[in-house]
Amino acid sequence: MTWFDTHCHLDDEHNPDGVEAALERARQAGVTTFLCVGVGGLAQAEQALALSERHSDVFASVGVHPHDAARDGQLNFERCWAHPRLLAVGEVGLDYHYNHSPRETQVEVFRQFIALARRAHKPLIIHTRNAAEDTLQILKSENARDVGGVIHCFSEDRAFATRALDLGFYLSFSGIVTFKTARAIQDVAAWAPSDRVLVETDSPYLAPVPMRGKRCEPAFVVHTGAHVAGLRNVEQADFAALTTENARRCFRVPVAGS
Ligand code: NI
Repeated sequence: MTWFDTHCHLDDEHNPDGVEAALERARQAGVTTFLCVGVGGLAQAEQALALSERHSDVFASVGVHPHDAARDGQLNFERCWAHPRLLAVGEVGLDYHYNHSPRETQVEVFRQFIALARRAHKPLIIHTRNAAEDTLQILKSENARDVGGVIHCFSEDRAFATRALDLGFYLSFSGIVTFKTARAIQDVAAWAPSDRVLVETDSPYLAPVPMRGKRCEPAFVVHTGAHVAGLRNVEQADFAALTTENARRCFRVPVAGS
């Protein structure tokens, strides 16, 4: 198997027990590539980049989570954008469920980071919750199609998916897709075009069935992948290869050794 966990948080704060063992367990389970999302401030950004320097199968992304927009929106991440192991800008976006930062600030920071992704020539990792319409409109008005990227932890419906796909975005499925109640998400996972589907853990959050309730780690992407393969009626190994190829294309992963 060759799974690609396109979204995991591997900084010290999220992993008090250390990440090395978790990475090793994931490799044993068949995970070949990790995209480590460094959000929560400059320390997390630096840690994601440092981890990607230490492991040839780990890459990094840096951004400001909408929760942190008010606190971190003006931080200077300049040093990160040219880093050779940085694949993406994010996660960035809107979260109107918790509103940890005022909506206007979230919108402002979101727009800023789309512009930044364009300057850095990097795809975006988008977080959206209870903010479907604003997210799509901002992506459209900021011409996010030029940089592309992924709707991470996809938890919307087919109508949203259609519009995101039209903007050139990929859809990434997390453990949520394995939850019994997630009918609309399962519908999208079964239907989405095969060249636009990705998988992720969003660890340490959202452990998939049958690991639900445990602290999520990258090895669990195998369960999410198996579930989506079942929904799509394809072999797990084929789906692992397909989603890994999609992720490499989406994030323009450099070929090893080059
Ligand atoms: Ni995340």
